[in-house]
Amino acid sequence: MKKVIAISSSGRKKNTYKLIESTRQLLKDAEIELEIVHLADLNIRDCRGCDACILTDKCPVKDEVTDVLNRMQEADGLILTSPVYMAGVSGQLKRFIDRTCRWYHRPALVGKPILLMTTTAGGYAKDVLTYLNKVSTFWGCRSCGEIFRTVRSWDVGVTEKELEAFIQAIHQQRPWKPDMNQVITFQVQKALAFYALPRDQSYWKEHRWLDAVYYEGSQVAWYQKLVGQSFFKLLSRGMKNQKKTSKD
Ligand SMILES: Cc1cc2nc3c(=O)[nH]c(=O)nc-3n(C[C@H](O)[C@H](O)[C@H](O)COP(=O)(O)O)c2cc1C
Repeated sequence: MKKVIAISSSGRKKNTYKLIESTRQLLKDAEIELEIVHLADLNIRDCRGCDACILTDKCPVKDEVTDVLNRMQEADGLILTSPVYMAGVSGQLKRFIDRTCRWYHRPALVGKPILLMTTTAGGYAKDVLTYLNKVSTFWGCRSCGEIFRTVRSWDVGVTEKELEAFIQAIHQQRPWKPDMNQVITFQVQKALAFYALPRDQSYWKEHRWLDAVYYEGSQVAWYQKLVGQSFFKLLSRGMKNQKKTSKD
């Protein structure tokens, strides 16, 4: 049996939680178990901004975040969700995401299928999904769909069709094809690994990503390779010059 971890980030277990729950039976039919992590039930504290996780891989804040991060790494797939709060994600989710900052530098969820969900009274679903997509791209995840519901559709559960790509990706039945934004983001992360932090450089080297246009196991189109490589060259030139100027 495969396992999916869903991150629930409302203060209550209502619209968004129900939307996550609506996937349970469909996932079970596909031999996938669903486990929901409701952040409000856990002790999760704010990032202190000390940079220790980026520089040393260790976080001085002692709470339940590490356990959630470990469970996400072990899972076969992820569902990341938030209600729309004031045109953005909930504070609970933002607090949690800030604690994953080192995964921007050293992606730890590479190739993990992820499904994004939000619920809203009326607006800003697209803004929230765009942000969740950005974050999951930083983590190295493989996007498998974006789902939203509004006041008109709160009671409509997730459909089989909306889950199809996610289930197939978990069972490795479809190729992983990143979009252009994801290829570009990878170049920025790679350039930082090359020129900014030695710890990132060894991590990227160890994973053989320094010479890649995208992560191993993905299929990148020829034009994405071309754009990705040219963009990386441009970035490198800028960063080398910056290094030189700061030495002078
Ligand atoms: C603090 C707060 C801020 C909200 N901000 C917005 C908003 O900016 N736009 C909107 O359309 N709905 C907004 N809503 C409505 C929620 O997005 C909507 O009710 C959502 O489905 C709640 O999800 P939940 O039941 O999982 O908590 C807000 C609700 C709350 C409590």
